[in-house]
Amino acid sequence: MPEGKKILLSGTQPSGRLHIGNYLGALRQFVELQKTHESFFMIADYHALTSVQDGGKLAENTLNLAMDYLAIGIDPEESVIFKQSDVPEHMELAWIFNCITTMPYLMRAHAFKDAEAKNKEISVGKFEYPMLMAADILLYETEVVPIGQDQKQHVEITRDTAEKFNRIFGETFVLPAPLILDEVATVPGIDGRKMSKSYGNDIGLFADDGEIESKVMSIVTDSKGVGETKDPETCTVFALHKFFSQNELPDIERRYRDGSMSYKESKEILAKNLKDFIAPLREKRKTFERDHDRVIEILKKGGAFARERAQKKMADVRLKVGTTLY
Ligand code: TYM
Repeated sequence: MPEGKKILLSGTQPSGRLHIGNYLGALRQFVELQKTHESFFMIADYHALTSVQDGGKLAENTLNLAMDYLAIGIDPEESVIFKQSDVPEHMELAWIFNCITTMPYLMRAHAFKDAEAKNKEISVGKFEYPMLMAADILLYETEVVPIGQDQKQHVEITRDTAEKFNRIFGETFVLPAPLILDEVATVPGIDGRKMSKSYGNDIGLFADDGEIESKVMSIVTDSKGVGETKDPETCTVFALHKFFSQNELPDIERRYRDGSMSYKESKEILAKNLKDFIAPLREKRKTFERDHDRVIEILKKGGAFARERAQKKMADVRLKVGTTLY
């Protein structure tokens, strides 16, 4: 574990399989950033409990996400990989944050407003979600939080919460900053909306060739035929080419504009490039699928390391809020 480097923490919910939006928007950065930061990569299982309410499924998703982290290149020798529930201090700190945060403030959160607008039933856990995320980040003196655009507001709430705590109880928390890659802030799904498990418009990061082909071929486009000029900037297939077809990009763009490329051909190129990109990831993942014990050991070790850190921070927090009597 490198000393004297900036501390970085990010997390992913084990609420289903990873998709290429998660990878391009956030996880891909982890691999590079772990070389220059003291890094914590968390599996947010208590966050996922707001949507996955099947014990077997949550446990399975958690193990799967640990394997995904390892398969994309997070190195357990260099970084801490842990699951949130192994560090109960996250829940303790979240409660303290609940007590200094008002309902109207949390009601301004996008996720809450979206759910309310859709008349969804909102659990107390979902409402308080940003408080637990603030605890995840602030417990480790995190300075950098690599995320996709959709999580930006959560980091802003985290900063506000840290400032508020510091104001009430004295200087305690470092203010973290989000790290969002502009070009991949929001990766579109096959229907053009943000790629998301909950919209069912995602392409799995470890998808097999059959799934890649069928998903890519069903990407929604306008109805322009061969010979017609097409606008690359509004085309979801082209948006994905930007990530997976970099070498051919100028040529594809030119052919969109001069009308010589059909959407079918464009999709075939994308499917091929995606298959080439995913195949080695799938292979690497297999090595961990064959060795669950090793994955569990990595999680246990990461959890113990993270907990030690979190306990130190909580000792200070408890002192400040007045729950330490002896
Ligand atoms: P989650 O599990 O929804 O997503 C994990 C990461 O993937 C990014 N992402 C995307 N980026 C670009 N385009 C997309 N279509 C796309 N879909 C997802 C997300 O922005 C995220 O960075 N609340 C978090 C998990 C969390 C966390 C934390 C993150 C819990 N505690 C502490 C950072 C720090 C979430 O639900 O991410």
